[in-house]
Amino acid sequence: MSSGIRHFTDLSALSGSVLREMLDDASVRKERLKAGERSRPLDGKVLAMIFDKPSTRTRVSFDVGMRQLGGETIMLTGTEMQLGRSETIADTAKVLSRYVDAIMIRTTTHDRLVELTENATVPVINGLTDDTHPCQIMADLMTFEEHRGPVKGKTFAWTGDGNNVLHSLLEASARFDFKLNIAVPEGSEPTQTYLDWARANGGNVSLTRSPEEAVSGADCIVTDTWVSMGQEHRARGHNVFLPYQVNAELMSHAKPDALFMHCLPAHRGEEVTDEVMDGPNSVVFDEAENRLHAQKAVLAWCLGA
Ligand code: CP
Ligand code: NVA
Repeated sequence: MSSGIRHFTDLSALSGSVLREMLDDASVRKERLKAGERSRPLDGKVLAMIFDKPSTRTRVSFDVGMRQLGGETIMLTGTEMQLGRSETIADTAKVLSRYVDAIMIRTTTHDRLVELTENATVPVINGLTDDTHPCQIMADLMTFEEHRGPVKGKTFAWTGDGNNVLHSLLEASARFDFKLNIAVPEGSEPTQTYLDWARANGGNVSLTRSPEEAVSGADCIVTDTWVSMGQEHRARGHNVFLPYQVNAELMSHAKPDALFMHCLPAHRGEEVTDEVMDGPNSVVFDEAENRLHAQKAVLAWCLGA
């Protein structure tokens, strides 16, 4: 951040107060939109969106969000760019910075995001890497607070694979001061550096093999696919994860009004059953909607609007 450019790379890179202001701004923008108010603070601005992996929510919510703010987007898939023919990320960053006002990237290794950020002279936004998914967690926290009030002091439980979404949730637990109980099978733990960072920064994090123990007393149960994009080579038998499935029985161990969250896309019948996905405690489509509002706040912050 020493360059003064406002990148949105990871929750750990920003202070709790900056992130809180962004979340509050997202809620205000959502209310104004619902009230029919339109402002175009990003009139004339262009966001380049690079996708090295598939996407429905991230792609559409950034595109629509940018348009609602008065700006425009250019959709780029890595394979169709010279990036796909071995032009470096660094050179791509320098070139795109001459054309556009901000870059959003969904990519594979986190190193690619870092290289882009270090070489871009415009803000870079992380739209998911193998390691983290901060935009998703901003939307999830916004969703929780809409339904249950401030996240501070609440308990979240994660059950399933220790993946990129969990890593950002770990960072959020420290930045927003909520407890996080994690239940994962042996060999699917979150990366130790994310656990260590959260604990070193005040996070209250527990790790167990028991999903019942993790969800006990929780205000929110979160899960995700057992096989993330690009991680197919690491896929493990579903029998390893089946005890971690979020079903009605597991939900019965949480608080009766515990919310259920999933970033989507969901694999119904695997990490979550239909009865939970479509049940009264599920807020999965609110999360999807709030990607739009949360990212508008991220875009406005990055571009000083
Ligand atoms: N949750 C999420 O990031 O969805 P997409 O992969 O559809 O963008
Ligand atoms: N963990 C998932 C999230 C998808 C939005 C993946 O990386 O595939």
